[in-house]
Amino acid sequence: MTKARDFLGPYRLIRLIRAGSACEVWEAIHTKKDERFALKILRPNKRDDKAELAALKHEFQVGSTLTASNRIIKIFQYAIESDAPLLVMELFSELNMKQALRRGPDSLAFMLDKIIEQAAEGLFYLHDKGWIHRDIKPDNFLVSREGETKLIDFQIATKKKTGLAKLFSSGGAVQGTRSYMSPEQIRGKHCDERADIYSFGCVLYEAVTAKPPYTGATPNELLTKHLRANIPSPLVINDNVTPEFAAMVRRMMAKDPEQRPSSMYKFLKEFKTIKLFKRRPKEPEISVFDDLPSFKNPDDLFRN
Ligand SMILES: Nc1ncnc2c1ncn2[C@@H]1O[C@H](COP(=O)(O)OP(=O)(O)O)[C@@H](O)[C@H]1O
Ligand SMILES: [Mg+2]
Repeated sequence: MTKARDFLGPYRLIRLIRAGSACEVWEAIHTKKDERFALKILRPNKRDDKAELAALKHEFQVGSTLTASNRIIKIFQYAIESDAPLLVMELFSELNMKQALRRGPDSLAFMLDKIIEQAAEGLFYLHDKGWIHRDIKPDNFLVSREGETKLIDFQIATKKKTGLAKLFSSGGAVQGTRSYMSPEQIRGKHCDERADIYSFGCVLYEAVTAKPPYTGATPNELLTKHLRANIPSPLVINDNVTPEFAAMVRRMMAKDPEQRPSSMYKFLKEFKTIKLFKRRPKEPEISVFDDLPSFKNPDDLFRN
């Protein structure tokens, strides 16, 4: 098991940010450069797992094409240090949107305009580079105290298909997160950027209501709702949302990709012309950021 103060090559591990099933994300310091990074490290029991190794390398390959945007977390390197395969990433706010929304819709509302715009810019940039993310969900957007927002997690991103290749669906296993998966992705059909736009619509719904648009007692029930249920309006849960915003979110969640905004560029253009809330939300007295170790003790971040 990896522990704080352990070394992986030149990196000294400082703090475990998050443990997932295959990877752990650590804050680490490069002792020679005296610089901090986030390391996404494959867990010891997964190091012989070819699929997990390939996913980590793939994430690096995707990330390495996306380094020119500051709306996307930079992935600097794929490396093996002390037998541990890992990604070296830019260290950023560890707070993801999902964590923030667990505290209710007010936690981010006062700066949600900025968060949505930056999240959309990140996704636009990714699409512009020819990728479909396929796992757009609140957990995969990191948010700073100032509302700066960055897209992460490119493990299942795929190249957008063009021309004839579109006719042949990948045929692989259905990947993605069920609460946010588009109907075409569920059906294993060809996906283009509009699949991400559907998921992003679900994210926006949740951003203003703190609830995903659909829930189900079983995975199948949930998938069936994405395929067939009436599209809910966020206005029903949050009456401070403008009808224009609610309508746009519902259009993004259209079952038929043809009925969604056709690109993130179009989304951004429209988003900039409408108001999100009727009344300006207040900043909560207790910030979600104060729950996080790195924000409780910001000085710690810059001490060796
Ligand atoms: N560059 C980073 N800086 C700070 N925290 C990060 C960074 N990358 C990931 N994290 C934290 O780790 C969590 C999991 O990262 P992610 O890449 O989504 O892994 P997984 O594939 O396990 O979902 C994120 O939700 C976030 O809280
Ligand atoms: Mg993730």
